[in-house]
Amino acid sequence: MSNRYAVILAAGQGTRMKSKLYKVLHQVCGKPMVQHVVDQITKLDIEEMVTIIGHGAEMVKAQIGDKSLYALQEQQLGTAHAVIQAQEMLAGKKGTTIVVCGDTPLIRAETMEALFNHHQELAAKATILTARIEDPTGYGRIIRNESGLVEKIVEHKDATDAERAIKEINTGTYCFDNEALFEALTKVSNDNVQGEYYLPDVIEILKEQGEIVTAFQTDKFEETIGVNDRIALSTAERIMRNRINEEHMRNGVTLIDPDNTYIETDVQIGQDTVIYPGTILKGRTIIGSDCQIGPHSEIDTCEIGNGTVIRQSTANKSSIGANVNIGPFAHIRPDSAIQDEVKIGNFVEIKKAVFGKGSKASHLSYIGDAEVGNNVNIGCGSITVNYDGKNKYLTKIEDDVFVGCNSNLVAPVTVGKGAYVAAGSTITMDVPGEALSIARAKQVNKENYVQKLNLKK
Ligand code: UD1
Ligand code: CA
Repeated sequence: MSNRYAVILAAGQGTRMKSKLYKVLHQVCGKPMVQHVVDQITKLDIEEMVTIIGHGAEMVKAQIGDKSLYALQEQQLGTAHAVIQAQEMLAGKKGTTIVVCGDTPLIRAETMEALFNHHQELAAKATILTARIEDPTGYGRIIRNESGLVEKIVEHKDATDAERAIKEINTGTYCFDNEALFEALTKVSNDNVQGEYYLPDVIEILKEQGEIVTAFQTDKFEETIGVNDRIALSTAERIMRNRINEEHMRNGVTLIDPDNTYIETDVQIGQDTVIYPGTILKGRTIIGSDCQIGPHSEIDTCEIGNGTVIRQSTANKSSIGANVNIGPFAHIRPDSAIQDEVKIGNFVEIKKAVFGKGSKASHLSYIGDAEVGNNVNIGCGSITVNYDGKNKYLTKIEDDVFVGCNSNLVAPVTVGKGAYVAAGSTITMDVPGEALSIARAKQVNKENYVQKLNLKK
């Protein structure tokens, strides 16, 4: 097999997005568009990947990292001009170069592989990935001659009415013979409506030189959407969402209402887990099997064990064990480690806390900057007082502790193993293990008080 190279076009501003953010960094299902493209290309057997950067160059580079080489296109003079910037890295190399736009986030490795194969089987110098679509507005059109062979590509803005009626479009992905590509690029002019150097013009140039130029038409037109504005962005989001959701369902996950379930690209979910409507799973979230998640829960970058239930809750950058029960209406904030069989009930907030096996905070608590041991019971309304207005301090609650309702544990403080804290206590000093600590005013009953006041008629 001959050598393969890839060029990704990602230098444009994306004017039609009307955004501060550069177009290729806009996200589809939680991942920047250009990253989707890079991830798919990485699945192919590619020698060298060159990304053309310009607008937002540093941000695009930071996003993609060292998977790619970079060529800077200082002025955006068109897609042909963009590819020329890769000259230093690629010109003179023998092999096949695939060019992909950074704004086609739905393209899949399988389709690119099929394009490569088609290109190689026909020994072509250029092969265009095309698609037939109902509304081809904005795309370059594929012009074929009477024998059905590709002649050239005409941009929408340059096209005649007859050409605009053509429904076969240039998806913006191509395979080229690498040497022929860089030679033809020197001949591209900017004599067109937009005054740009068009990469599609390479097709006509090669054709006129008598080279073999072909098109590979994909029936997966959904993969080829070029995102130029927010409407196309939402279309891409919907298609990507369906694709992700269907994959989870094929893997044995139940989605009660896939249209109302939002799962980002890198999320993993185990078999027989049920996801209820309104659930958003983000980042590198990994969920075990036999879990019930949702309805209306948002989980970002959490690792969750098997058999755990999370209802109407938010969890962020934390680990959650097996057979844990969270919610409804709980908030798990970053850096928490909730171990197996824990119960975090309604209106409980956990922040940067370890919660040992079998421990419970069933109602209305705030537990922050804390180490909670195993089998601890935190009564309704009890909180850790972790902040003195300046610094944060640690609360340690050792194994088997029972904290009565509505207690304040003023950090730094340790409640020893097996100790009891009486309800309503404000604990400011360490409690020894096995002790009962009562820190509240003693109850006084004033008998017949009302009569003494003589207020009753
Ligand atoms: C391009 C094609 C069109 C095709 C469509 C598919 C051209 C002239 N037209 O049109 O035939 O149907 O894609 O989606 O190529 N870019 C650069 N540098 C530049 C200009 C663009 O890096 O100087 C990058 C952009 O960041 C973008 C990609 O190239 O990722 C495509 O540019 P865009 O302006 O979106 O081209 P389209 O008008 O969509
Ligand atoms: Ca585009």
